[in-house]
Amino acid sequence: MTRKEKIRNAYKLTGDNASFYDGMMTYSTFFGKAICRLVWNMDREKNLRYIEQALAGVPEDFDGKLLEVPVGTGVLTMPVYKELPNADITCLDYSSDMMKAAQKKAEAAGIHNISFRQGDVGALPFGDESFDVVLSLNGFHAFPDKEAAYRETFRVLKPGGTFCGCFYVEGGCRRTDWFIRKLYVKKGFFTPPFETEESLKERLSGIYEDVRVTSVEGIGCFQCRKA
Ligand SMILES: C[S@@+](CC[C@H](N)C(=O)[O-])C[C@H]1O[C@@H](n2cnc3c(N)ncnc32)[C@H](O)[C@@H]1O
Repeated sequence: MTRKEKIRNAYKLTGDNASFYDGMMTYSTFFGKAICRLVWNMDREKNLRYIEQALAGVPEDFDGKLLEVPVGTGVLTMPVYKELPNADITCLDYSSDMMKAAQKKAEAAGIHNISFRQGDVGALPFGDESFDVVLSLNGFHAFPDKEAAYRETFRVLKPGGTFCGCFYVEGGCRRTDWFIRKLYVKKGFFTPPFETEESLKERLSGIYEDVRVTSVEGIGCFQCRKA
Protein backbone atom coordinates (compact mmCIF):
# COMPACT_ATOMS: atom_id res chain seq x y z
CA MET A 1 0.00 0.00 0.00
CA THR A 2 1.37 3.45 -0.84
CA ARG A 3 1.62 6.17 1.81
CA LYS A 4 -1.29 7.93 0.13
CA GLU A 5 -3.49 4.85 0.45
CA LYS A 6 -2.45 4.19 4.05
CA ILE A 7 -3.24 7.75 5.07
CA ARG A 8 -6.58 7.70 3.26
CA ASN A 9 -7.48 4.52 5.15
CA ALA A 10 -6.38 5.99 8.45
CA TYR A 11 -8.58 9.04 7.95
CA LYS A 12 -11.57 6.84 7.14
CA LEU A 13 -11.04 4.83 10.32
CA THR A 14 -11.13 7.87 12.56
CA GLY A 15 -14.83 8.26 11.77
CA ASP A 16 -16.36 5.87 14.27
CA ASN A 17 -15.35 7.43 17.55
CA ALA A 18 -13.87 10.73 16.52
CA SER A 19 -14.55 14.03 18.19
CA PHE A 20 -16.50 16.70 16.38
CA TYR A 21 -13.29 18.45 15.36
CA ASP A 22 -11.60 15.33 14.04
CA GLY A 23 -14.71 14.33 12.12
CA MET A 24 -14.77 17.70 10.42
CA MET A 25 -11.07 17.62 9.52
CA THR A 26 -11.30 14.15 8.02
CA TYR A 27 -14.77 14.25 6.46
CA SER A 28 -15.69 11.24 8.51
CA THR A 29 -18.74 11.99 10.67
CA PHE A 30 -22.25 13.19 9.85
CA PHE A 31 -21.69 16.72 11.21
CA GLY A 32 -18.13 16.83 9.94
CA LYS A 33 -19.30 16.06 6.41
CA ALA A 34 -22.09 18.62 6.67
CA ILE A 35 -19.63 21.37 7.64
CA CYS A 36 -17.15 20.41 4.96
CA ARG A 37 -19.89 20.64 2.35
CA LEU A 38 -21.71 23.69 3.65
CA VAL A 39 -18.82 25.90 4.76
CA TRP A 40 -15.93 24.64 2.65
CA ASN A 41 -17.74 23.33 -0.44
CA MET A 42 -15.69 20.15 -0.14
CA ASP A 43 -16.61 16.51 -0.58
CA ARG A 44 -14.35 13.64 0.52
CA GLU A 45 -12.20 13.84 -2.59
CA LYS A 46 -11.52 17.56 -2.23
CA ASN A 47 -10.87 17.14 1.48
CA LEU A 48 -8.27 14.45 0.81
CA ARG A 49 -6.81 16.40 -2.11
CA TYR A 50 -5.99 19.45 -0.02
CA ILE A 51 -4.51 17.34 2.78
CA GLU A 52 -2.30 15.47 0.31
CA GLN A 53 -1.15 18.73 -1.30
CA ALA A 54 -0.40 20.22 2.12
CA LEU A 55 1.65 17.18 3.13
CA ALA A 56 3.48 16.87 -0.18
CA GLY A 57 6.55 18.64 1.25
CA VAL A 58 7.22 15.78 3.69
CA PRO A 59 9.14 13.04 1.82
CA GLU A 60 7.82 9.48 2.25
CA ASP A 61 11.17 8.28 3.64
CA PHE A 62 11.87 11.41 5.69
CA ASP A 63 14.46 10.82 8.42
CA GLY A 64 15.39 14.34 9.49
CA LYS A 65 14.02 16.77 12.08
CA LEU A 66 10.46 17.95 11.62
CA LEU A 67 8.52 20.59 13.52
CA GLU A 68 4.74 20.64 13.27
CA VAL A 69 3.06 23.81 14.45
CA PRO A 70 0.21 23.83 15.39
CA VAL A 71 -0.39 20.11 15.86
CA GLY A 72 -3.93 20.51 17.24
CA THR A 73 -5.43 17.07 17.87
CA GLY A 74 -2.93 15.48 15.47
CA VAL A 75 -5.73 13.97 13.44
CA LEU A 76 -4.15 14.80 10.08
CA THR A 77 -0.55 13.99 10.93
CA MET A 78 -0.36 10.99 13.29
CA PRO A 79 -1.14 8.59 10.40
CA VAL A 80 1.75 10.22 8.50
CA TYR A 81 4.17 10.02 11.45
CA LYS A 82 3.39 6.35 11.91
CA GLU A 83 5.04 5.86 8.52
CA LEU A 84 8.16 7.88 9.44
CA PRO A 85 9.91 5.75 12.09
CA ASN A 86 13.32 7.34 11.44
CA ALA A 87 12.27 10.97 11.69
CA ASP A 88 12.76 13.14 14.76
CA ILE A 89 9.37 14.81 15.23
CA THR A 90 8.47 17.76 17.45
CA CYS A 91 4.89 18.97 17.80
CA LEU A 92 3.88 22.31 19.28
CA ASP A 93 0.55 23.95 20.04
CA TYR A 94 -0.73 26.75 22.18
CA SER A 95 -3.55 24.61 23.55
CA SER A 96 -2.50 21.75 25.80
CA ASP A 97 -6.04 20.32 25.55
CA MET A 98 -5.78 19.92 21.77
CA MET A 99 -2.29 18.54 22.17
CA LYS A 100 -3.37 15.96 24.76
CA ALA A 101 -5.60 14.43 22.07
CA ALA A 102 -2.60 14.32 19.72
CA GLN A 103 -0.45 12.69 22.40
CA LYS A 104 -3.09 10.02 22.95
CA LYS A 105 -3.18 9.26 19.23
CA ALA A 106 0.62 9.00 19.11
CA GLU A 107 0.62 6.59 22.06
CA ALA A 108 -2.18 4.50 20.58
CA ALA A 109 -0.33 4.30 17.25
CA GLY A 110 2.96 3.37 18.96
CA ILE A 111 4.79 6.44 17.68
CA HIS A 112 7.84 6.94 19.90
CA ASN A 113 10.01 9.27 17.83
CA ILE A 114 7.88 12.27 18.75
CA SER A 115 7.83 14.95 21.43
CA PHE A 116 5.16 17.52 22.36
CA ARG A 117 5.65 21.02 23.63
CA GLN A 118 3.18 23.70 24.61
CA GLY A 119 4.13 27.08 23.18
CA ASP A 120 3.48 30.04 20.92
CA VAL A 121 4.35 29.99 17.23
CA GLY A 122 5.25 33.66 17.60
CA ALA A 123 8.08 32.83 20.03
CA LEU A 124 9.22 29.30 19.23
CA PRO A 125 11.31 27.72 22.00
CA PHE A 126 13.92 26.37 19.57
CA GLY A 127 17.28 27.56 18.29
CA ASP A 128 17.88 29.03 14.85
CA GLU A 129 18.13 26.53 11.99
CA SER A 130 16.97 23.53 14.03
CA PHE A 131 14.59 21.72 11.63
CA ASP A 132 14.70 20.21 8.14
CA VAL A 133 10.93 20.57 7.71
CA VAL A 134 8.46 22.94 9.32
CA LEU A 135 4.89 21.79 8.70
CA SER A 136 1.93 24.03 9.45
CA LEU A 137 -1.59 22.75 8.77
CA ASN A 138 -4.56 25.06 9.23
CA GLY A 139 -2.71 27.34 11.61
CA PHE A 140 -1.96 30.68 9.98
CA HIS A 141 -5.63 31.66 9.69
CA ALA A 142 -5.86 31.24 13.47
CA PHE A 143 -2.57 32.77 14.60
CA PRO A 144 -3.10 36.24 16.04
CA ASP A 145 0.37 37.55 15.13
CA LYS A 146 0.99 36.23 11.64
CA GLU A 147 4.12 38.28 11.00
CA ALA A 148 5.76 36.74 14.08
CA ALA A 149 4.63 33.28 12.94
CA TYR A 150 6.19 33.71 9.48
CA ARG A 151 9.36 35.08 11.09
CA GLU A 152 9.69 32.28 13.64
CA THR A 153 8.93 29.39 11.28
CA PHE A 154 11.62 30.79 8.95
CA ARG A 155 14.13 31.27 11.78
CA VAL A 156 13.97 27.68 13.07
CA LEU A 157 14.26 26.15 9.60
CA LYS A 158 17.69 24.99 8.41
CA PRO A 159 19.05 26.39 5.12
CA GLY A 160 17.76 24.05 2.41
CA GLY A 161 14.83 23.06 4.66
CA THR A 162 11.20 22.91 3.60
CA PHE A 163 8.31 25.00 4.89
CA CYS A 164 4.96 23.50 3.90
CA GLY A 165 1.32 23.15 4.86
CA CYS A 166 -2.01 24.82 4.28
CA PHE A 167 -4.53 27.31 5.62
CA TYR A 168 -7.61 29.28 4.67
CA VAL A 169 -7.14 31.78 1.84
CA GLU A 170 -9.68 34.42 0.87
CA GLY A 171 -11.18 34.40 -2.61
CA GLY A 172 -11.10 30.64 -3.30
CA CYS A 173 -14.78 30.08 -2.49
CA ARG A 174 -17.32 32.88 -1.96
CA ARG A 175 -19.47 30.81 0.37
CA THR A 176 -16.49 29.99 2.56
CA ASP A 177 -15.49 33.66 2.68
CA TRP A 178 -18.99 34.53 3.89
CA PHE A 179 -18.94 31.94 6.68
CA ILE A 180 -15.46 32.97 7.77
CA ARG A 181 -16.39 36.66 7.96
CA LYS A 182 -19.81 36.18 9.54
CA LEU A 183 -19.08 33.32 11.89
CA TYR A 184 -15.52 32.11 12.30
CA VAL A 185 -13.99 35.55 12.85
CA LYS A 186 -16.80 36.63 15.17
CA LYS A 187 -16.46 33.45 17.24
CA GLY A 188 -12.68 33.94 17.38
CA PHE A 189 -11.86 30.69 15.55
CA PHE A 190 -10.05 32.61 12.78
CA THR A 191 -8.15 35.89 12.97
CA PRO A 192 -7.77 38.33 10.05
CA PRO A 193 -5.97 39.56 8.02
CA PHE A 194 -6.15 36.62 5.61
CA GLU A 195 -3.97 35.83 2.63
CA THR A 196 -5.28 35.19 -0.86
CA GLU A 197 -3.61 32.52 -3.02
CA GLU A 198 -1.80 35.34 -4.87
CA SER A 199 -0.69 37.24 -1.76
CA LEU A 200 0.59 34.00 -0.22
CA LYS A 201 2.61 33.25 -3.35
CA GLU A 202 4.05 36.74 -3.28
CA ARG A 203 4.84 36.67 0.43
CA LEU A 204 6.57 33.28 0.32
CA SER A 205 8.49 34.20 -2.82
CA GLY A 206 9.95 37.17 -0.94
CA ILE A 207 11.41 34.86 1.72
CA TYR A 208 11.78 31.39 0.20
CA GLU A 209 12.84 29.65 -3.01
CA ASP A 210 11.02 27.06 -5.16
CA VAL A 211 7.65 28.32 -3.98
CA ARG A 212 4.61 26.28 -4.96
CA VAL A 213 1.11 27.41 -3.96
CA THR A 214 -2.05 25.59 -5.00
CA SER A 215 -5.56 25.72 -3.65
CA VAL A 216 -8.59 23.53 -3.20
CA GLU A 217 -11.63 25.79 -2.76
CA GLY A 218 -10.74 28.13 0.14
CA ILE A 219 -7.68 26.24 1.35
CA GLY A 220 -4.27 27.31 0.08
CA CYS A 221 -1.52 24.68 0.14
CA PHE A 222 2.12 25.67 -0.01
CA GLN A 223 5.60 24.24 -0.22
CA CYS A 224 8.86 26.20 -0.39
CA ARG A 225 12.56 25.95 0.43
CA LYS A 226 14.80 28.15 2.57
CA ALA A 227 17.88 29.25 0.59
C1 LIG B 1 -7.58 24.80 13.36
S1 LIG B 1 -6.45 24.13 14.51
C2 LIG B 1 -5.36 23.26 13.43
C3 LIG B 1 -4.76 22.05 14.09
C4 LIG B 1 -4.15 20.98 13.17
N1 LIG B 1 -2.94 21.43 12.55
C5 LIG B 1 -5.15 20.51 12.16
O1 LIG B 1 -5.00 20.81 10.95
O2 LIG B 1 -6.11 19.84 12.55
C6 LIG B 1 -5.57 25.57 14.98
C7 LIG B 1 -4.64 25.34 16.15
O3 LIG B 1 -3.82 26.49 16.29
C8 LIG B 1 -3.46 26.58 17.64
N2 LIG B 1 -2.93 27.93 17.88
C9 LIG B 1 -3.59 29.11 17.81
N3 LIG B 1 -2.76 30.13 18.08
C10 LIG B 1 -1.54 29.58 18.31
C11 LIG B 1 -0.25 30.13 18.63
N4 LIG B 1 -0.07 31.43 18.76
N5 LIG B 1 0.78 29.27 18.78
C12 LIG B 1 0.60 27.94 18.64
N6 LIG B 1 -0.58 27.37 18.34
C13 LIG B 1 -1.63 28.18 18.16
C14 LIG B 1 -4.77 26.26 18.36
O4 LIG B 1 -4.55 25.89 19.70
C15 LIG B 1 -5.30 25.12 17.49
O5 LIG B 1 -4.92 23.88 18.02
